[in-house]
Amino acid sequence: METTLIILKPDAVQRGLTGKIISRFEDKGLQVVGMKLMQISQQLAATHYEAHKERPFYPGLVKFMTSSPVVVMAIRGNGAIGIARNMMGATFGSKANPGTIRGDFGVSNSFNLIHGSDSPEAAERELKLFFGAGEVLNWSRAGEVWVYDMSGGKAE
Ligand code: RTP
Ligand code: MG
Repeated sequence: METTLIILKPDAVQRGLTGKIISRFEDKGLQVVGMKLMQISQQLAATHYEAHKERPFYPGLVKFMTSSPVVVMAIRGNGAIGIARNMMGATFGSKANPGTIRGDFGVSNSFNLIHGSDSPEAAERELKLFFGAGEVLNWSRAGEVWVYDMSGGKAE
C-alpha cells in the first residue's frame, strides 16, 4: 500500500470545497490515515516547494500557500500516489479535464486547489514534513473486504 500527501490549498478551504474534495477520495475507496487543518509557515512552504525555488512563480506560490489555512491529508491505497494525481487533474485549472478535482472546481492556474505527491520518494519526504510521529494512523476500515479483492492473497 502507498501513502501520499495531499494538501487542500488555501483556495479550497476559503471556498468551502474541502468536504467535496475529501468525499472524492473516500468515494474512490482510498483511506484517510491522517488529516489536519493548519497554517503553513514560510519555512515549511519553502522546504516543501524547494525544487521550484528558481522558478518565476515561486514567490507567488509561497505567498499563496501561506496566506490562509490548508487541510493536509495522508491518503493510503494500492497505487494511491498515481491515483490521486489522476484525480487531481492537470496543474492548471484552465487545462484540467472535467471529472478531475482541478477540472471541476477551478479555473485559475495559480489557485489550483490541491497538491499531491508526485512519486514515492516525494511522498515519503513530504509526509515527514507535514505529519509528526503518531499523526498518521494505521487503522482498519470495517468495509475494507469490499474495497479490494483479497482472494489471491494480495489487494487486487
Ligand atoms: P503541486 O506540486 O502543487 O501538486 O502541483 P503540480 O505537481 O501539478 O505542479 P508543479 O509543477 O509541481 O507546480 C507546483 C505549483 O506551482 C504553481 N505553478 N504555477 N504559473 C506557473 O507557471 C505555475 N506553474 C506551477 C501551481 O500552484 C502548482 O500547483
Ligand atoms: Mg508538484
